[in-house]
Amino acid sequence: MATETYTPPLGYKILTPLYDLAIRYLTRENAWRSALAKQINPVPGDRILDVGCGTGSLLAILAEHCPEADFMGLDPDIEALERASKKINGPNIRFIPGFLSKEALPQGWQPTKITSSLMFHQVPLLKKSEIVDIMRSLLMPGGELHIADYAMQKSPLMRSAFRMTVQQLDGVEDTKHNAEGILERILVAPGYLTEKTLSFPTATGSISLFKAKFLAS
Ligand SMILES: C[S@@+](CC[C@H](N)C(=O)[O-])C[C@H]1O[C@@H](n2cnc3c(N)ncnc32)[C@H](O)[C@@H]1O
Repeated sequence: MATETYTPPLGYKILTPLYDLAIRYLTRENAWRSALAKQINPVPGDRILDVGCGTGSLLAILAEHCPEADFMGLDPDIEALERASKKINGPNIRFIPGFLSKEALPQGWQPTKITSSLMFHQVPLLKKSEIVDIMRSLLMPGGELHIADYAMQKSPLMRSAFRMTVQQLDGVEDTKHNAEGILERILVAPGYLTEKTLSFPTATGSISLFKAKFLAS
């Protein structure tokens, strides 16, 4: 059986210790991450899954906003998860090493909200829509997807910022489809109300936020 591969947080394993600093100073992290946390709006009773949680920066903010919610972070990168569990821990915070699948979550743990930040641009083309489909299948009726990532790079300035930074580290093959607008297409589906809520121009390209609400029938 072929082993599934992935791109580490900053493109190369050796750079993982620099990940948090790079994101903080090069991506206007405070602006987009706090907007994403506000959009997710964790409330007591929420079960929130962060796919590709990396070093746990988003979960840390969400748990600070609402310590009564239940959180799960999933990522194939063990070093990133070790860093995450040093940053944030508690009885309501769990980490799962590995990739998203229908069987990845503990039995009976159905997320009310699923989020993912800066993961999709690192994922191969076919896998991007596969992950979105699995997210939809795991979500509670009435639940929500909240995504922040490099999506369509509309201006020449943002396209060249993306090319000179993210694509140097993460490569062109998996990232180019994001810059061409794949997220805008795959996040739209019947039964979901999908909006691109905000975009943040940064030194690494434009980071966009999406919200897709599952319209329970
Ligand atoms: C750029 S980092 C973002 C980390 C974190 N979400 C954040 O906002 O800082 C991307 C993360 O996605 C993970 N990743 C890459 N491919 C993945 C996949 N197919 N499934 C789940 N996680 C993946 C990487 O291991 C990495 O930790």
